[in-house]
Amino acid sequence: MAAKNITKYTPGFNISDVQKKYNIKKIIKLSSNENPFISDKVSKYINNTKHSLNLYPDSKPNKLQSIIARNVGFKMNEKNIILGNGSNEILEFITRQTLNSSTEAIIPKHSFLVYEIISKLQDAKIVVSKPDFNKDSPNYLGIDLDSVKNKISTNTRLIFLANPANPTGTYIKLSEIDRFLSSLPQKITVIIDEAYYEYLNPNKDKSAVSLIKKYKNLFVTRSFSKIYGLASLRIGYGISSEKNIEKLRLYKQPFNTNLFAQKAAEIAINDHHFVNESKKNNDSALFDLIQLFDELSIRYLGTHCNFITFEVGKDSKALFEYLLKKGIVVRPLENYKLSTYLRVSLGTRTEMNTFKKQLKLFYHVKV
Ligand SMILES: Cc1ncc(COP(=O)(O)O)c(C=O)c1O
Repeated sequence: MAAKNITKYTPGFNISDVQKKYNIKKIIKLSSNENPFISDKVSKYINNTKHSLNLYPDSKPNKLQSIIARNVGFKMNEKNIILGNGSNEILEFITRQTLNSSTEAIIPKHSFLVYEIISKLQDAKIVVSKPDFNKDSPNYLGIDLDSVKNKISTNTRLIFLANPANPTGTYIKLSEIDRFLSSLPQKITVIIDEAYYEYLNPNKDKSAVSLIKKYKNLFVTRSFSKIYGLASLRIGYGISSEKNIEKLRLYKQPFNTNLFAQKAAEIAINDHHFVNESKKNNDSALFDLIQLFDELSIRYLGTHCNFITFEVGKDSKALFEYLLKKGIVVRPLENYKLSTYLRVSLGTRTEMNTFKKQLKLFYHVKV
């Protein structure tokens, strides 16, 4: 098979790599947009239960799918839901179903890298739409739907839109997405990736799930890796019409989500206290960090997620290395064509205080 020109996905640094490289015991990992907290109820289940590890997990976790459907709302039911080994796996199923070497996928510039990787694996042509260049807009460098529309050709079969988006943290209004979808031919599948949906403030009435009954070509994906704090267990889901989900299940291995992931997802989605506390911590970390960025005249992009991407200019490598030496891992964004920016995930109050202190020291501001 011909070698594919695929940009490798570089995950945030491993804690153990940084510990070894800089001989530091305590590492603050703010590089992969994880929740800094774990639900006590999930911990209790993992630690205090005798698990049937000898048996395969449930291949049709209908109960979990029903719980998710109820949580998602908009009259969805278990048949509208497909579970994946992370929402990444759902993105892969849809890509495998829609793309081949004679088709094109449209990916907005500065999008989550996985979109490009999985589309290239299908040998599809990648067409990159322009970002929003309006410097005064809160959507600056986010998705420009007009540009996406302009890139449509007779071969377009798939469009990826993250809302809110990583790494730009930007959000496009549902009314704009609705207008955009209404202008598309049905043969083009659209994925609205809502991995960070739960961080939207407020998030009520902002989900594209409300459009699923209207558009047959629409899939929405969601993750348990973010606000639900289960990144390590790998579980996420896709939502679409019953017919679309039935077809997509053909791509699913029978046991793609494991026992712990299934049960922990069920517990976490019902642990409203944990979700609310996670959100509260995120809101307050976001508020404080924005205040500091404003004080230091540091420009930042969208603020709708559990991270902020901020402009450092030519010092971005130096700041990244400086923080690393202090045991703080943030994310460089060369791979996202944002080499003068860094992305910092929002951690606990203590972690953020350490980050803010080191940022001030780097810029020689009194702490
Ligand atoms: C935009 C976006 N989509 C999807 C994912 C993948 O999430 P999951 O852990 O559910 O595979 C991420 C992870 O960071 C993301 O940023």
